[in-house]
Amino acid sequence: MNLTRALATTQSFLPVDESHLNKFASIAVPERLLLGPGPSNSHPDVLKALALPPIGHLDPFYVDLMGEVQELLRYAWQTDNRLTLPMSGTGSAAMEATIANSVEPGEKVLVAINGYFGNRLADMADRYRADVQTINKAWGEAFSLDEIEAALIKHRPAIFAMVHAETSTGVCHPMEGIGDICKKYDCLLLLDTVTSLGGVPLFLDKWGVDLAYSCSQKGLSCPPGLGPFTISPRAEEKLNSRQGKVPNWYLDVSLLNKYWGSDRVYHHTAPVNMNFGIREALRLLSEEGLANSWKRHRNNAEALWSGLDKLGIELHVKKDLRLSTLTTVKIPEGIDGKAFTLYLLDKYGIEIGGGLGDLAGKVWRIGLMGYNSTSENVKKVLNIFESDLPRFSK
Ligand SMILES: Cc1ncc(COP(=O)(O)O)c(C=O)c1O
Repeated sequence: MNLTRALATTQSFLPVDESHLNKFASIAVPERLLLGPGPSNSHPDVLKALALPPIGHLDPFYVDLMGEVQELLRYAWQTDNRLTLPMSGTGSAAMEATIANSVEPGEKVLVAINGYFGNRLADMADRYRADVQTINKAWGEAFSLDEIEAALIKHRPAIFAMVHAETSTGVCHPMEGIGDICKKYDCLLLLDTVTSLGGVPLFLDKWGVDLAYSCSQKGLSCPPGLGPFTISPRAEEKLNSRQGKVPNWYLDVSLLNKYWGSDRVYHHTAPVNMNFGIREALRLLSEEGLANSWKRHRNNAEALWSGLDKLGIELHVKKDLRLSTLTTVKIPEGIDGKAFTLYLLDKYGIEIGGGLGDLAGKVWRIGLMGYNSTSENVKKVLNIFESDLPRFSK
């Protein structure tokens, strides 16, 4: 066979057996009311923004939109941090970005663990070869300032990492004074705000938070896919004086800032439609006003809590630590919790979450986040709990 014929043979379009592909109809997603730990339902205007035609990631229109997203994120977080941007990835990518950019091998990182996501932070810091120390609390409790200060004195870490809103337990950690003691012991404060952004009061600058991250799919009511990230000037200084390169190329904020900052140099092809979506989600938040959104979340959570109380159903977290975006509900004695969540999804199209980690099998997790935090949804859940739950006695 001569060369020309050989090439013609390898490039010929041979028939391909496609008969097994007939089963793929075009997608039809079932209707769901997402009242679990996240995602929440996307706001219809966000869905419209997502469906806009994509444009180039260096298009002047898009570059302007990037600046708007940054400005709106600073507002949502109440920070003036220059380096504030959405990482292309979910909350865990932004979580990893805070660790990757701030931790150097051998440095002490103190992690407060009172739930599932504190453990994830410790695991990530360990992978970046930090000397990880932890303080631990039962899932559903919070640390006192004295406990945190004692641990800072004992370990003298470079970074103290903690979760503001623990989605696994339903605790909203009090933040007053923590930033001050971190400064006193010359350590950066790293805060997970995945389940608080947009739904719970957050004042990053006032609280002295140096590194924070969040997600698009909970309080912002956008689909999962972006991880808002921010670092303070103090954390930027640490980044600039690193001994070695940030060991994660994709999440290196000094490289990313060449795209998000004034240079506009290509780093990776931005998920432009996701940024259309988050731009709209943040615009909706600013239209409502942060304080109004926080109040709405609190009022609806309180209505859920008192309604459940009237039904004789207990909550896992004491009232002063409760999170308005996520409520952990004790599964009553003798009730098959898993069967009830499956039934809710099957009969009503409502998703609520089961327990995670230490709380698996012990609680349900009901989320009232962003667009889903409404009095109608509260009533719907309470009515179903009242009418249908008794059938699930084991
Ligand atoms: C408190 C907290 N941190 C981090 C994450 C991780 O975010 P993602 O699942 O978007 O990667 C979650 C996810 O639910 C979370 O609730």
